[in-house]
Amino acid sequence: MSEKTSSVHYINYLALDKILDSQYLASKEKGDEAHDEMLFIIIHQTYELWFKQILHELNSVLKLFKADKIDESNIGIVVNRMDRVNKIMTTLIGQVDVLETMTPLDFLGFRNHLSPASGFQSHQFRKLEVLLGLKIEKRHQPGGCPYHAQFEGVKKQEILNLEDGESLFALVEKWLERIPFLNFEDFDFIKKYENAVNEMLEKEITEIKSADLTDQDKTLRIRMIDENRKYFERVLNEDQHKGAIKKEETKLSYKATMSALLINLYRDQPILHLPYQFLRSLVELDHKISTWRFRHMQMVEKMLGQKIGTGGSAGQEYLKQTVDKHKLFTDLANIATLMISRSYLPELPQNIKDKLGFSYVK
Ligand code: HEM
Repeated sequence: MSEKTSSVHYINYLALDKILDSQYLASKEKGDEAHDEMLFIIIHQTYELWFKQILHELNSVLKLFKADKIDESNIGIVVNRMDRVNKIMTTLIGQVDVLETMTPLDFLGFRNHLSPASGFQSHQFRKLEVLLGLKIEKRHQPGGCPYHAQFEGVKKQEILNLEDGESLFALVEKWLERIPFLNFEDFDFIKKYENAVNEMLEKEITEIKSADLTDQDKTLRIRMIDENRKYFERVLNEDQHKGAIKKEETKLSYKATMSALLINLYRDQPILHLPYQFLRSLVELDHKISTWRFRHMQMVEKMLGQKIGTGGSAGQEYLKQTVDKHKLFTDLANIATLMISRSYLPELPQNIKDKLGFSYVK
């Protein structure tokens, strides 16, 4: 079938003429075509297309979380979309391999034509960071110049509006704070959990004391358990938690952290399966973005060594700082520190189990 006879043709539906006619090689225009510039352009364009898809998914997730009441069935949709975002991120990390087939010498064949353009000016990447919750004051900003100074007019305003709006981090925090299970009828989760932790730590100390170890080893191990106890206290004690937020050691509110802990501990309860998967997907996304940052930084190191970037930053040294500093959901990842084995987990009363699970009437 020809392009003319079909009302909806592959080429038109996908606007391929536009897309495939959008690779302008600056080196070719200057009369000195560099073979690898095509790869450089296509890979950036591919990234931007995937960024567009990620933003499409994240915006839909944000919309669901902005509703006054989040319907349980929507959590399934959210989990599915986050899974898609994470799969795309895996692809984006893998694409660095393709870029690395270009050598520093090949890159130098056209690098002078693209300066001062840089991925630093990717509007979609910035939108993605801000939507997730990366605040301007938390960024690594060498020279104190704000990242949005790269944009003007509507593009800049769009970023500023997003900075003022509610991010995924903020919405997830609110959602966790609203979860009603912390004080469930006669079951005080935090108190029961605290007792279970103390029982576990006491048992560990008793075991160490009676173990076949030198006194020095015993003291060392007991000291480790005391450190562990301090960590539990710091998270579980509301005032200490607030102090840690002030000192910027942690970000997630006390109530949200307790809900996230409960979801992680009781994830076997049917009603908590999807919330648990959702929390996991956020940690996974954080790790994947961080992995991409790391792979990009290593690629830059191979390509540029210690040269400064075309965007004017210190190049790989700047990128290295962002790998850890720009993570957002570390508090959710750190919930793993608070896990206790199922044998210590306070048993939920039957009436609560019935409410959290599927009830089958015989
Ligand atoms: C030869 C290939 C590449 C080199 C040498 C390179 C180099 C750099 C450098 C040096 C920076 C720091 C800012 C600056 O001073 O310019 C940077 C930032 C950035 N690059 Fe690349 N890059 C390359 C490929 C890519 C690709 C394929 C993407 C995909 C979109 C990308 C996206 C970004 C982003 C989003 C930033 C900002 C990161 C941040 O501020 O956290 N880069 N790049």
